[in-house]
Order: sequence, then structure tokens, then C-alpha cells
Amino acid sequence: MRAAQGEDVIFLSIGEPDAAPPQSVLDVASTQMNNGRLKYSSGQGEPNVLAALSRHYTKQTGRAIGPDQFMFLPGTQTALSVAFLSILDEGDEVLMFDPYYATYEALVRLPGGIPVPVPLDPDRGFHPDLKLLEAAITPRTRAILLNSPSNPTGAVFTAEEVKAIGALAAKHDLWLVSDEVYANLVHGNHVFTSPFFDQALEERVIVCSSISKSHALPGFRCGWIAASADYCAKAVAVAESLLFGSPQFLQDAVAFALDTHFVELDQMQRDYQLRAMALLEGLSACKTVSARMPEGGMFVMVDVRKTGLSGEAFARALLHQHNVVTMPGESFGACGQGHLRVALTVDEATMREAAKRIAALATSLN
Ligand SMILES: Cc1ncc(COP(=O)(O)O)c(C=O)c1O
Repeated sequence: MRAAQGEDVIFLSIGEPDAAPPQSVLDVASTQMNNGRLKYSSGQGEPNVLAALSRHYTKQTGRAIGPDQFMFLPGTQTALSVAFLSILDEGDEVLMFDPYYATYEALVRLPGGIPVPVPLDPDRGFHPDLKLLEAAITPRTRAILLNSPSNPTGAVFTAEEVKAIGALAAKHDLWLVSDEVYANLVHGNHVFTSPFFDQALEERVIVCSSISKSHALPGFRCGWIAASADYCAKAVAVAESLLFGSPQFLQDAVAFALDTHFVELDQMQRDYQLRAMALLEGLSACKTVSARMPEGGMFVMVDVRKTGLSGEAFARALLHQHNVVTMPGESFGACGQGHLRVALTVDEATMREAAKRIAALATSLN
């Protein structure tokens, strides 16, 4: 409303990529649509996109991943939903690190599962405490949900952390559902590690991902599950019952996108990093507000605990007094309290201005 009234509002709330998607991907979709690629499709996916996924994951994991190890689905969100619908029974518990992506609770509850938050400590950069994770395991635990790089925390779990989580899953015979929608957005020296990299875990890992963030194409609703061939053969019945296949012309475009390197997407990743640096620089002189460089993804958690306000109260004041829209950390679970989640989806100059306004509010509260 304020923006509609001409006020200079800065929106840092939604994780919607602001970069343009590669034009050639759109061209493939439109050409193929006009070529009549509009029939019903296989519930698992078209052969060309399954082959492209196979090439992509074979390269990423360093071992042969067959086309029968995928299901093409409308985005990570649907992939996660298919994953939980296929593995959970009523009353099964799913461990998820808190703060977590806001839709996780509903995804777990849909098939009757129970989300069990496992706290992450902001003062450890939101990295996992394996003792807390193991302590949360009960006879009803069925799965651990991972999201690295994380929305909202920006943490990228190290190879050692992923290995330790994998070992716990194997010890307690649990599924590992890995939301890897930010896999290609890793900053600085951090390295993306998936539990799927470890062949010994293949039978218990369900990777969920998409081109929404990697190719700035959230509106295509194109994603997939990568898992064992055995799991895919069984879970395809869930996908069939929900969807009866995905649009062929979009699958053609995704096959092309996965097989092509786009320099503009490298730039998009660098831009997220530069914007995060601009935000941190703008907050550096502020005594009561701080932030760490995100290790990956497209968000920064800003710590406002020293202002004495909750994330919610700070976000509200920031909107009302300074026209900056952010997400309160509390909306991502109890451990997000006292934080704001800032989406890196505006240019550097706007990010500097946003930092100035956040610092101005913090200073006025002293
Ligand atoms: C962690 C996480 N998982 C899943 C999604 C949904 O992604 P998709 O567009 O691929 O469904 C998002 C979108 O913001 C996200 O941040």
C-alpha cells in the first residue's frame, strides 16, 4: 500500500530472484510449445530431462547416477511433498534444524508427520550440534530434513557435518531428505556437500531441487527428486496420483538449461555476494545490530538481539518508520528469534540504503 502511494519502500522480504533468466531457456520453452510438445508426459519425466539430470548428477557426485534415479516434479516444494507423502506414516517424526524454511511444518504435517525442531545456535553461525540432533531421535523418528545452503540462515554445512549427519541416519535407519534448491549458490571458500555424494547413503537420501533459484525461474515450477532407482520406482505412484506428468515443453527447456553453462548466472551468484557485503559494510558501525556473511544462498540473518527488540518488533518498526520490508526471524522457528531475514534481491546501492535505514532504527533505539 505504501509503495502504491509512491513511498520509497525497499522490499527485502521474499526470496524471489531479481535477475533475468537466461533468454535461451525461455526460447527453448516457447519453440517447443509451438512444436506441439503439449501431450501428456511420463509420470517420472521425459527421457531427455532424465538424461540431462543423469549427466548433471553424475558430474556433481563423481559416480554414475542413472536416469532412473530421478522424478521430474513442479519445483522443490512439490518434490518435498512427494518425498514426505512417500515415506511418512501417521505419527512419524521428522527432525528439522531450526530456523527452517517456513513451509516445512506443513509439508511434514500433510501426511500426518510431526515436525521436531532441532535448535541451531546463531552464535555458532547456525551450524548443527550433532549431540542435540542425536538427542532428538526417538523410536518414532523417520527422517532428518536438511537444507544446505540454508534459507533462512545462509549456513552451508561442512563435509564433516554432512558426514556426521549421514552416519547418524545410517545408525538409526532414517531417511535423509535434502532440500538442495540453493546448491549452486555457494559463496567464498565454502563448498557445497550433499549426503547424496556418499554412495553408501544413496538408498536413504532423497534430494529435492529445482531451477527456481539456480536459473532465476521460479515461475516455471520445474524441479525434481534425485534418489535411488528403487525409491523412484516406488514413489512415482505418488507423483502420478498428484500430477499425471509435467509439461513436455518445460522439461525440454530444463534439459537444455542443465546442459548449458550461463555466464549471467555466475554473475547472479557474485551479485548476491556483493549485496551481502554491502549490507554488512552498512551495518558495521552499528553497535546493536550485526550480521555474518552468508556461506551460501540468497539471504542474510541480521542479529538485532542487542537492541532489546524481538525480530518481529524490529521488523515492524523498520517497516513503519523506515519503509524497509524484511521477514522477522521468528517466522522461521523459535531459534530465529531476535533476527531479521534479509533477501539479497535488490541491487547494491539499494542494499546500502536499506543498511542505512536498519542502522538508523537501531541507533534511535539506544
Ligand atoms: C529452502 C527452500 N526450499 C524450497 C523452496 C521452494 O522452491 P521451488 O520454487 O523449487 O518450489 C524455497 C523457495 O524459496 C526455499 O527457499
